[in-house]
Amino acid sequence: MSKKTVLITGCSSGFGKLAAMTFHEKGWNVIATMRSPEKEAELTGLDDVLVTRLDVTDAGSIKQGVEEGVGRFGTIDVLVNNAGYGGHTLFEQATDEAVRAMYETNVFGVMNVTRAVLPLMRKQRGGCIINVTSMAGMMGAPTISVYASTKFAVEGYTEAMAFEYRPLNIMVKSVAPGAYPTTRFNANTDDCLNSGGEELSAHAHKLYEHLQAVAAQMATQGGTEADPQEVADKIYECATSETPVHNPIGADAEMLAEMMGAASRQAFLDKMEGMLLPPR
Ligand SMILES: NC(=O)c1ccc[n+]([C@@H]2O[C@H](COP(=O)([O-])OP(=O)(O)OC[C@H]3O[C@@H](n4cnc5c(N)ncnc54)[C@H](OP(=O)(O)O)[C@@H]3O)[C@@H](O)[C@H]2O)c1
Repeated sequence: MSKKTVLITGCSSGFGKLAAMTFHEKGWNVIATMRSPEKEAELTGLDDVLVTRLDVTDAGSIKQGVEEGVGRFGTIDVLVNNAGYGGHTLFEQATDEAVRAMYETNVFGVMNVTRAVLPLMRKQRGGCIINVTSMAGMMGAPTISVYASTKFAVEGYTEAMAFEYRPLNIMVKSVAPGAYPTTRFNANTDDCLNSGGEELSAHAHKLYEHLQAVAAQMATQGGTEADPQEVADKIYECATSETPVHNPIGADAEMLAEMMGAASRQAFLDKMEGMLLPPR
């Protein structure tokens, strides 16, 4: 059987890099995309791994990255929309510019890359698109109003896209991680939480500190710190097996999903499929 090819966004660190290594170890061709490929050392030079530039907010770089990948490996079987970022802030503390910038990456970035890859998948009559969302796309919490809204958007987009493209043999799924120690997630948090005047800032800090304590407790439900490799493995499982549309991962996300009845949501979606899709 010929080797399959995956394109992953945001491979410079975190889940994206681990997913690229995982697909590589399983014998796939990997188009490992990132904003600054010149800084990459680990993935560069691996057999059948193409490290190339792709900024999900830049149409030209998406076109070029996809063309280069297809030029090298012939096609793209699986797309992993992983690139994204977050940060803690009260809604009022986030500038309009910061909100729009996060949507450009977390929401429109996912749509931009998906748009570039779908014609290929339709032509080859099959494929799989995996959107990395978050536990914050299942549930809102204090100080993540902006981030959660981007991830809710992608969860809704994923669910509708799963209906639209399943009849064309293209599976669309989300992987929703809980909290993992990968990330520069909190990088811009301090500046935001300190803004907006004394009263708002004190309120923001109080909520943030409480949330951090709760999150730390939930993330170690199993007694050990969450291992980011679990997310890469879940992405691989979604690419290679039949799984639900929404795939929470991590002790915290899985616990929440159970509390929210996520299994019954998939049963609901299965029922809706009979109603929403025309007969084959
Ligand atoms: N870690 C967690 O606790 C957690 C939990 C739930 C969901 N997530 C989600 O998981 C995904 C990966 O995050 P991570 O935890 O692995 O964090 P990370 O280590 O910070 O990785 C994020 C990646 O996204 C890239 N990126 C950001 N903006 C981009 C853009 N415009 N174009 C292309 N790439 C861009 C970053 O590239 P640069 O190096 O160029 O900045 C980096 O490679 C994100 O969607 C995040 O929201 C993370």
